[in-house]
Amino acid sequence: MGESRTIGIFGAGWVGLVTGSCFAELGHEVIVRDVVPERIEALRAGRAPFHEPDLPETLARNRERLRYTLEAGELAEADVLFICVQTPPTYSGDADLSYVWTALDDLPRVEGRQILVMKSTVPVGTGEKVRAALEARGLTNVGYVSNPEFLAEGRAVHDFLNPDRIVIGAFDEEDAVAVERLYGKIEAEVVRTDVASAEMIKLAANAFLMTRISFINEIANVCEAVGADVVEVARGVGLDHRLGPHFLRAGIGYGGSCFPKDSLALKQLASNSGYHFQLLAAVIEVNELQKRRVIQKLEKHLGKLRGKKVALLGLAFKAGTDDMREAPSLVLASRLLAEGAEVRAWDPVARPGELMKGATLCDTVLEAVRGADAAVIVTEWEELRDLASDEVREAMARPLIIDGRNLLDPAEARRAGFAYEGIGRQSSPFETLPEGAEQATKVSTS
Ligand code: UGA
Repeated sequence: MGESRTIGIFGAGWVGLVTGSCFAELGHEVIVRDVVPERIEALRAGRAPFHEPDLPETLARNRERLRYTLEAGELAEADVLFICVQTPPTYSGDADLSYVWTALDDLPRVEGRQILVMKSTVPVGTGEKVRAALEARGLTNVGYVSNPEFLAEGRAVHDFLNPDRIVIGAFDEEDAVAVERLYGKIEAEVVRTDVASAEMIKLAANAFLMTRISFINEIANVCEAVGADVVEVARGVGLDHRLGPHFLRAGIGYGGSCFPKDSLALKQLASNSGYHFQLLAAVIEVNELQKRRVIQKLEKHLGKLRGKKVALLGLAFKAGTDDMREAPSLVLASRLLAEGAEVRAWDPVARPGELMKGATLCDTVLEAVRGADAAVIVTEWEELRDLASDEVREAMARPLIIDGRNLLDPAEARRAGFAYEGIGRQSSPFETLPEGAEQATKVSTS
């Protein structure tokens, strides 16, 4: 059983706050430090700065054990310091580690031993570099551990408290033991390894998940060409216990703050070391092309898109989050606008603002689809499950649904009078339209 320690967190972003609140939940004292005053003020006032299920409750439940500060000096009392800052890509595709180095510059000077733990996703070799930097600064009392996060947005609190495994890569056995103890109340397999392997486990796990997505997306594209249904195919494939059912949902490509940047970073890391990571390069390219296939589907039904009104339903990169980073909706909106289409956009929580300049943000699904020539499901929000309704059909100029997430039942959508296109599913939507209806033209008027 782990005893209570004092934990310092660099970065009150998504990883930092989930990590901090969950460690507080496990009984530790936690000090979260960020450089953005508004963020710290919001947290002190009891507000979570972004949408993440269970996070507000976890922060509130443990507020006695959570402190927020702008001062790195306050982290001096921590036994263990977690680095949870962002590592965005640079122009070269390498991970930008400048926030990590700034955190290192801000490390408080203490007498006793402190352990620096890297939660942020970093290239293999970062641990060695940080260790050298610590030595150069005379911080020989600071140990280093790589302890990557495997949290998925929208279920991050659950993932933290119920992990598949805890990966701990350390230079010193003692530091590994101390970090493992922090998780003492959690039952999970612990992978103790060297620092470089821990760093690689994170990158490889994400790369493999992306490979599965691009794989099933390519299978989907072939399914469309040969008349099979990728949802059925994925079900049949996923029941093989050697393969498993996860990450086999075909769609409009992966997005988010992690996969796109981590794939580039790993590809770049390999090529910096003289290796061309061919498979990963293909995974990335397939994903880019996948986002654009929706445009072809729209053109198939509507012809030229100039002047057509298209509703983009769901804007966040996936359901359960308001995160717009690398969201496929951004690529779609700008492609549509470039083609001269009018874009009406809706999401229950995401507010893209300037990112989706030129599109009209709507408060309700009905407002977005009113007078639209097509409705595109971009994010698999539950709210969209009953999209194929009479109300929506009557509001649209043409009853056409392009389902980028295979959220709807194709037969039901067609029965409800819509022309329907999923991803990797039979794409002959016209024959089930009621008699007299033309290709994707309005079937009934109110
Ligand atoms: C991902 C990983 O799942 C986490 O384990 C990891 O810790 C995290 O990245 C990270 O590196 O920090 P996340 O990006 O939050 O988490 O979301 P996922 O649920 O993995 O989805 C990623 C993308 O893949 C989304 O755009 C999603 O729509 C897409 N996806 C996922 C599919 O298109 N098909 C699937 O079957 C699954």
